[in-house]
Amino acid sequence: MNALEQLKRFTTVVADTGDFNTMRAYGPRDATTNPSLILKAVSKPEYRSLLTRTLAAHPGEDVAAVCDRLLVGFGAEILAIVPGRVSTEVDARLAFDVEATIAKARHLVALYEEAGFGRERVLVKVASTWEGIRAAEALENEGIHCNLTLLFSFPQAVACADAGVTLISPFVGRIYDWYRKHDGVDDYAPEEDPGVLSVRRIYTYYKKFGYPTEVMGASFRSVGQVLALAGCDLLTISPELLEQLSKDEREVERRLDPRQAREEAVERVRFDEKHFRYAVNEDAMATEKLAEGIRIFAADAVKLESLVAQAR
Ligand code: E4P
Repeated sequence: MNALEQLKRFTTVVADTGDFNTMRAYGPRDATTNPSLILKAVSKPEYRSLLTRTLAAHPGEDVAAVCDRLLVGFGAEILAIVPGRVSTEVDARLAFDVEATIAKARHLVALYEEAGFGRERVLVKVASTWEGIRAAEALENEGIHCNLTLLFSFPQAVACADAGVTLISPFVGRIYDWYRKHDGVDDYAPEEDPGVLSVRRIYTYYKKFGYPTEVMGASFRSVGQVLALAGCDLLTISPELLEQLSKDEREVERRLDPRQAREEAVERVRFDEKHFRYAVNEDAMATEKLAEGIRIFAADAVKLESLVAQAR
């Protein structure tokens, strides 16, 4: 068995891409998209027809409405390939607006339902800001499942679990990028990788206290990082790394295990709004990466809008 097949024995493998033609070969159960991945896919000639069809089907709609349809259009194509769920991200410009995030999530789910896909197959991706977490809490109460993204720190993970969200995406690679630059080092061994250690800590805490929120490691830079988290509930992996895993013959060992996590000496903590904001602010990496992540996704949403505007 190659490393990808072995990994699938312990972990649900998810494809991290909008480029749905490349995912078939790896048999992921779910798929995740984000604004940057959708922009990248729409910019490829082979997906241009999806944009053209979306515009032709909704001639009177404004650019923002067409963009929502396009995000769902990609998601619907993905759902025709994967048996599980697709994650579609809410506009990052709404990251600090509870009501607008709720309204956008309801709208995206309504578009999926119009296209024939029930809400059980959709995860609405929301930034793990205090406001994003509050919006997700409300959405979960009405049966809209959320994937809390741009998650770089333990306080964000604790607040998400206490809010009862379906799934979190703790990032590995962006934490690794920040520490590499900060520490002036070339690389970290997987066992010392700050991104890997962050996900392990969150996983241990969730399993120790029996939180049902699923942990999906995201943002990987190497096969080593992915395999260091073998056993995590889910891992979302780019097509490039899925390809490398499928050609890798090494033996894959389970690194995360719920029984082992329950044995760990871990203290329960709670974060109200003041403590959450203070704790995230105390973590320079999380504060900078969360802010930067929102800026990049917002900028890519603007680029997507101009692409749509030009295509009209
Ligand atoms: C997936 O949910 C994330 O958006 C993605 O893994 C981020 O990856 P990146 O850090 O490589 O952009």
